[in-house]
Amino acid sequence: MEFVALMKERRSVRAYKNAPVDRALVEEILRAAQLAPSWKNAQTGRYYVALTPEAQEKIRACLPSYNQKSSAQAALIVTAYEKGVSGFSGTEPVNELGDQWGAYDLGLQNMLLCLRARELGLDTLIMGIRDGDAIRAAAGIPDSQAVFSVIALGYRDQDPNPRPRKPLEEIVQYV
Ligand SMILES: Cc1cc2nc3c(=O)[nH]c(=O)nc-3n(C[C@H](O)[C@H](O)[C@H](O)COP(=O)(O)O)c2cc1C
Repeated sequence: MEFVALMKERRSVRAYKNAPVDRALVEEILRAAQLAPSWKNAQTGRYYVALTPEAQEKIRACLPSYNQKSSAQAALIVTAYEKGVSGFSGTEPVNELGDQWGAYDLGLQNMLLCLRARELGLDTLIMGIRDGDAIRAAAGIPDSQAVFSVIALGYRDQDPNPRPRKPLEEIVQYV
């Protein structure tokens, strides 16, 4: 698919068909995510994939009810990153942002995840409102990793309109 069309077609989808997502497809999507650049190529992003209904329910229980509803019947991918690596030289943060660089890298990966999913005919919903501690326990995520979003992945059962974007002048200044 042409890239601009792909970017425009991506939406946060909040209704999914009862159609399982193939593991091979998930792995293709995660391989695309891995193509993202990262701090010193550290690749600290980590993914915990819930494909079976049982696994999905375990993770879905860690979401508020509105996100549970929006992600019903979708596969769920917990995204995390290994702390203290991106943005660090040895054990010292390289600058004032410290571990936030790990979040930066993870975001770059997750954008590719969402776009590749769309290209393959799937859709996504990034959910930042979730119970991180409950997810850590449910998915067995070590304390060395920061738990970030849960991404719903599945086949859309709605066609959302595009959300508005701010005018460029509001977000850009030439210095
Ligand atoms: C970091 C992050 C966290 C988000 N958390 C949620 C969430 O918990 N629940 C939800 O319904 N949407 C969530 N969203 C989706 C945004 O609301 C959505 O991306 C935004 O409204 C723009 O719409 P679009 O993705 O369709 O372009 C989140 C998006 C991002 C990037």
